[in-house]
Amino acid sequence: MRDKIVAGNWKMNNDLQEGIKLTSEVVNMVQDEVMGNVRIVLGTPFIHLTNVAKMLTESENIFLAAQNCNEHESGAYTGEVSASMLSSVGTDYVILGHSERREYFGETNKQLAAKVDIALGHGLIPIFCCGESLEIREANDHFEFVCQQLTESLFHLDTEAFSKIVIAYEPIWAIGTGKTATSEQAQDMHAKLRTHIAEKYGTSIADDTSILYGGSCKPSNAQELFACPDVDGGLIGGASLKSRDFIDIVKSF
Ligand code: G3P
Repeated sequence: MRDKIVAGNWKMNNDLQEGIKLTSEVVNMVQDEVMGNVRIVLGTPFIHLTNVAKMLTESENIFLAAQNCNEHESGAYTGEVSASMLSSVGTDYVILGHSERREYFGETNKQLAAKVDIALGHGLIPIFCCGESLEIREANDHFEFVCQQLTESLFHLDTEAFSKIVIAYEPIWAIGTGKTATSEQAQDMHAKLRTHIAEKYGTSIADDTSILYGGSCKPSNAQELFACPDVDGGLIGGASLKSRDFIDIVKSF
């Protein structure tokens, strides 16, 4: 049985006090309002990791994610953060391959394969992001393009390693635009990705892989999206910065 996951991606938002406030609100709301077995993940900037990890020690179903890690073990990579550093402060997951990192920092599928390897090597669970541009979708090349992202960054893994991976499908044209993919569009891509995974690793591994949707997921559309058979939760940007909206999305299952 695959996990239901709602992960917040704060992106480059919240100073120290804002991060503490948001985390405290989410922890309290989860205690008061959330039942069931949804795994809740807070994807914070690096400065928050140590603090938030401590704030989550009593929370059984809230986990901590970083938004990136370097693909090297350590060394002369000024400004970078390593997987071992993330693990040392209690990080559980790491978001890898977000479209903003591919666009602004030139991350390639090959580079992301190395990031996935070192993250797994340090006990972190990769949330691997994939998704197409509007141009690719309008050319009807989106299935092939997104499947290729998995092939080039993940399919070198053996079955045991791949079984740890969480996938996040984020159509680039839906990120931060308010233009959410329809539930049919999301379901079609998620089903295609699950089939692609099954062709490589078998149906059992594919069926156990959590595939999240990201791209303007809000309280108003989360219930319809999460009702899709192959949508196992969401990777939430803007709405994760408001505790009420984020928890309402968590409660949408
Ligand atoms: O990683 C999640 C993010 O890209 C989605 O952003 O603001 O459209 O929910 P948003």
